Amino acid sequence: MQLNFAPMEGLTSCLYRQLHAQRFPGADRYYAPFLAPDGEGRCRTGSYRDILPEHNGGIDLVPQILCNRPEPFLILAEQLKDMGYCELNLNIGCPSSTVVAKHKGAGMLADLHSLDTCLSQLFESCPLPISVKTRLGLHTVDEFPSVLEIYNKYPLKQLIIHARDRAGMYKSMPDLRMFAYAAAHSRAPVCYNGNLFSPAHVEQLLSAMPDLSALMIGRGAVANPALFRQLRGGLPLESSELAAFQAALADAFLGAGLPVQHALARLKELWFYWIHMFPDSHRLAKQIFKARSLDAYTAAVQALFEAGHFSASSFFDA
Ligand SMILES: Cc1cc2nc3c(=O)[nH]c(=O)nc-3n(C[C@H](O)[C@H](O)[C@H](O)COP(=O)(O)O)c2cc1C
Repeated sequence: MQLNFAPMEGLTSCLYRQLHAQRFPGADRYYAPFLAPDGEGRCRTGSYRDILPEHNGGIDLVPQILCNRPEPFLILAEQLKDMGYCELNLNIGCPSSTVVAKHKGAGMLADLHSLDTCLSQLFESCPLPISVKTRLGLHTVDEFPSVLEIYNKYPLKQLIIHARDRAGMYKSMPDLRMFAYAAAHSRAPVCYNGNLFSPAHVEQLLSAMPDLSALMIGRGAVANPALFRQLRGGLPLESSELAAFQAALADAFLGAGLPVQHALARLKELWFYWIHMFPDSHRLAKQIFKARSLDAYTAAVQALFEAGHFSASSFFDA
C-alpha cells in the first residue's frame, strides 16, 4: 500500500516534513502545499523556498502546482525539473472561493472544455510526468463521469481523488460510490483521499475496496503524526512523542528565523489538530490558543501534557 502525506498549506511546510519523516517514518511520499505561479511562472519566495531540494533532503517529495494556464505551469515545471524533481502534481481540488472564482483548483471543473485544452497543452509539453489531485465535481459528484472522460484522454501518472465535490468543502461525507466508479473507470492508477482519521477508518475503506493500492491522508496524520506508523503495524502515538515533536517544531520555526508571533501562529494551526488527541481539555486548550508570548505558550503546553488527558485512540473527526 502506498501511503501519501497530503499537502496541507500552512501546516506541512518543509520544516514540518523533515521532522515528521525523522520522528514518524511510515509515509512513502509527501506532497508539498501548492505553488501558485504568476503569469511569468514566478512564485512567492516563501513557497519557492519550501520546495528547494536542500530543505527536503531524504524524503520523497512531489511539488504541487495551482495554475490553470499552461505557460506559467510549464516555466515552473522546467525549474522543478532542474531541481531534480521527477513528478508534478496539478491541483484541481482547492475549494477556496477566491481560488475557484479564478477558475483554478476545483474551479477548473467549471468548464470542461477549458480543462481539456489546458491538460492537452500541459501533457504535450511538460518535461515531467503529471499526477492530478481532483475533487469529484464542482457542484455535485455526479459531474465526475464527464470529468473522468477528460482525464482518461491523458497519461496521468496518478489520479488522486479527494472524494467529495467542491460544495462539500472539507465537511460532506466522502462519496464512496462515485470513488468506486472512478477506480473502475480511470486509466490512471487512483489514490483515495478523504476522512481517513484512524486505522479503523482505513480498515473499513479497504474492506469495501480491497484492490486499492494508494491512500493519501491529511488532517488525520496532522492530528496523529504516528498514523502512518500505525498503518504499517507500528505502535500508536505516545504523549511524550507528541510533546517532543511540538517542541522540535517550535525550535525549528524559531531557528529558521520566524518572528515569535509567526512561529506561535504556526504552532497554533497545528494545535487545532493535535488538540483532538486530548479529549476534555477545552480549558487547557484555550490557554494555548490565547498565548501571546513564548513563555505563556510553553507553560500552557506543559500544563496540557501534565494534565494527562492524552489518548492515543482519539482522532480528528471532521
Ligand atoms: C489547512 C488545509 C490546507 C490544505 N492545503 C492543500 C494544498 O495546499 N493542496 C491540496 O491539494 N490540498 C490541500 N488541502 C486538502 C488536503 O490535502 C486533503 O485533500 C483534505 O484535507 C482531505 O483529506 P483528509 O480528510 O485526509 O484531511 C488542504 C486542507 C486543509 C484542511
